[in-house]
Amino acid sequence: MQATIVTIPGDGIGVDVVAEGVKVLQAVAQKYGHTFTFENHLIGGCAIDAMGDPLPASTLDACQRADAVLLGAVGGPKWDDPTAKVRPEQGLLGLRKGLALYANLRPVQIFPQLRDASPLRPERLDGVDLVVVRELTGGLYFGPRKEATPDDDSAYDTMVYSGDEVRRIARKAFELARLRRKKVTSVDKANVLAASRLWRRVVVEIAAEYPDVTLEHMLVDSAAMHLMRRPADFDVIVTENMFGDILTDEASMLAGSMGMLASASLGEGKNGVYEPIHGSAPDIAGKGIANPLATILSAAMLLRYSLGLNEEAAAVEKAVADVVAAGYRTRDIYTDGTKLTHTKEMGSLICQRL
Ligand code: IPM
Ligand code: MG
Repeated sequence: MQATIVTIPGDGIGVDVVAEGVKVLQAVAQKYGHTFTFENHLIGGCAIDAMGDPLPASTLDACQRADAVLLGAVGGPKWDDPTAKVRPEQGLLGLRKGLALYANLRPVQIFPQLRDASPLRPERLDGVDLVVVRELTGGLYFGPRKEATPDDDSAYDTMVYSGDEVRRIARKAFELARLRRKKVTSVDKANVLAASRLWRRVVVEIAAEYPDVTLEHMLVDSAAMHLMRRPADFDVIVTENMFGDILTDEASMLAGSMGMLASASLGEGKNGVYEPIHGSAPDIAGKGIANPLATILSAAMLLRYSLGLNEEAAAVEKAVADVVAAGYRTRDIYTDGTKLTHTKEMGSLICQRL
């Protein structure tokens, strides 16, 4: 098949890891006889530097026309001035909103050989296999807000949801659960927040369309605790934008590192943005030591969800599992007796396995 893939490395280690994702996609194209055309674009801090805009129109436009987007990360100390008019993160949020990618899928899988990389006791990790379905274009990130100013020392952000926004993300979660262990945990803060009470009522309404799927509700504070206490009990977790942001950083510790978790941001069509859940890690940027596996696993999701190439996606995932099983580790998942591996070498090992 022919496909146009937009690559947006962004800032920091985004550059290091996207290069490896592209390498793997090129290896897939070669092996399976596909033609992937890559188009590189700017987002975040580097786009502010080059064009004064964290999401240049040319980037959004290219993404809209593409079959899929592979993204790295945004942000860094250079653009962290709290009084700045534009921030790198606005680029990423604008892209998600601009492409109407309201569903962010973040799978948490455990590679058996990485059990020792997790701060949790290994036996806690037995049977862990969950997906967080994070609502991505609403909630606290996108509600009306006010910045503090020198003369007005107050600020607010607002969590706003419409019933329809909850309906469509709930449906995604239930559809996904049907393909898995048929359990949905809806995470909210309905004991305090009005937006969460709406969320809960609508999720219950949608659940009636899926009688074969079990629904449970959990308050977000309690969910944060149970994720550590009994992570294997979760199947699909569906939740508000910011709750999902927080819970997935926490959940990455089950997998051993932020460097292991991939994500797919999807809307109604086939197009999507695929990115690791980790940030730009400016402290290790350009040193060649970042873990590219989350990005490579995101590339596998790209093959599956945007291009419909299931066999190729599974082959990439298998190659990652094989390389991990063979003992290769970037610094973040290194444990005694394993082989310390650099970013590029890790990408090449995956390509070789393919
Ligand atoms: C993520 C990141 C982003 C988010 C930041 C960089 C805006 O933390 O994708 O999880 O909060 O969504
Ligand atoms: Mg995050």
